[in-house]
Parts: sequence; C-alpha cells; structure tokens
Amino acid sequence: MLETIEAIRFVTPLREGGSLPGVMEGDDFGTWVVKFRGAGQGLKVLVAEVIVGELARALGLKVPQLKVIEVPEQIARYEADEEVQDLLTASVGLNLAVDFLPGAFGYDGEHPPSADEAATIMWLDAFTANVDRTPANPNLLRWHGDTWCIDHGAALYFHHSWPSRGSHPERFAAQPFDSSTHIMRGVVTDLPSAHDRLSTLVTTGLLTEVVAQVPDAWLEPTADLPDAESVRAAYIANLVARLANPEAWSPR
Ligand SMILES: Nc1ncnc2c1ncn2[C@@H]1O[C@H](COP(=O)(O)OP(=O)(O)O)[C@@H](O)[C@H]1O
Ligand SMILES: [Mg+2]
Repeated sequence: MLETIEAIRFVTPLREGGSLPGVMEGDDFGTWVVKFRGAGQGLKVLVAEVIVGELARALGLKVPQLKVIEVPEQIARYEADEEVQDLLTASVGLNLAVDFLPGAFGYDGEHPPSADEAATIMWLDAFTANVDRTPANPNLLRWHGDTWCIDHGAALYFHHSWPSRGSHPERFAAQPFDSSTHIMRGVVTDLPSAHDRLSTLVTTGLLTEVVAQVPDAWLEPTADLPDAESVRAAYIANLVARLANPEAWSPR
C-alpha cells in the first residue's frame, strides 16, 4: 500500500479543480495537494488516481509522488472557512495526497514532450479510458523542464457500473477510445511502435503491484465483489482483458 501520513494543517483551496482539491501540510513535513474522499465524486476516483498514476510512473512518465493522507477529526472541527469545514468533515479518514509541485505551470503546448513520451501518455490514456486529457482540460503540468501527468480520476470508469451491473471485463476490453481530441494528438508520431513497446511492460505482475497500492478502505464491495481482494482481482481482470484486445482501443 502507499505510505500513509497524517494531515496537520489545511493551507489553501486550489480553486482551479472541479473536485475541490486543497493544499495540506503533512506530518512528514511535506506539502500535498489533497484529493478529498468527501468531494462528491466518491472513493472510486481516488482508486483510479492511484492505479493509473502508478501505472504511468511504471511506464516512465513523470507523476508527482502519491501518498495516503489521514484527515483527523479535529482539523475539520477547527477550520474557520465554512465551505472548507464541510469538505474536511466529509473527508475525515483516508484521502489521496499528491506531491505539490510549487511553481508548476499548466501545460500549454509551447514545450511539448518528446514524440515517444507523448505516445506513452496517449497510449496510457487509451488503455485506461482516461478522457480527461484534452486541450480544454490538459491535466498536465510543466515543472522543472518536464511534463508531469496529474488527475487520473476520470479513468477506469467501468467501475462506476459495478454496484448495479457487476464487473464485465469483456465489455471494457471492447470499449473504443476517441484519441482525436487528445492533447498529444499533434505531437505523437509512431503509435504502433508505442503499443509494441508499452504493452509488453504491462504484465499481470505489474498490474497486481499497482492495484496493491490502493488502500483496502477505498475498495468498496458490491454484491458480486464482496471484499477488497475480489475488487482488486476485478480491476486486474478488466485491465488484462483490455490489454489483450488492442484492436478495439489502441490509438493509430
Ligand atoms: N501536484 C500538483 N502540484 C501543483 N499544482 C497542482 C497539482 N495537482 C493539481 N494542481 C493544480 O490544481 C488543479 C486541479 O487539480 P486536478 O488534479 O486536475 O483536480 P480536478 O480533479 O479537480 O480537475 C490543476 O489543474 C493544477 O492547476
Ligand atoms: Mg483536473
């Protein structure tokens, strides 16, 4: 599992994001962008952040370090801003901490990554069905001369149908991906070789490792997936099935 730290102070809200992320200080002396469990989009977006973020890292992309941050009750109780207090009260417990990159700029296309790196980003987004990386909403930061990937909460949306319809890896495997609006569309060149290069890196062993990083407490059981272990197995089964069917989704 990801390392767990405790939140000691709420610093400031990040007004840009739709999910009301905020900056907090941790008991590790770090400054963290916190994606809150109580932000209204539920725990599943935090699960997607961890699985896709750690997969991105394993493929060689730059991703800020991820930790789990525990928000204690008293921080919420003594917060003066009412809106923030409500959010913190709803988020007591384990939340996602993303290493804060001070002075980072939003990606504007002026300094694109290499064609290989761009292809890796697009391939990962296609594989995990991440629709949130467009010119209107890049979810990429420029920091210290590199391109950093953030915000993978929209990926793996198949898990939202688990409570009502159960897990169907064959459906996710067949789901197409529209790469025409992807932020890297004009930068990538050799997509077929990107698939050959990357698909061999995504082994069942790697997927197992990445899914193991998610805390049990975020893996909500359903009627068919009664415990954290079966939920983990369902993520792996969906991703393994999709990897085996690139004709459906791999960008060309
Ligand atoms: N690790 C980080 N370092 C610096 N700024 C960040 C970081 N993560 C997010 N931000 C800023 O906060 C904004 C919202 O974060 P994001 O993860 O995209 O949240 P949302 O899910 O609400 O879109 C980003 O567009 C960026 O400006
Ligand atoms: Mg975002």
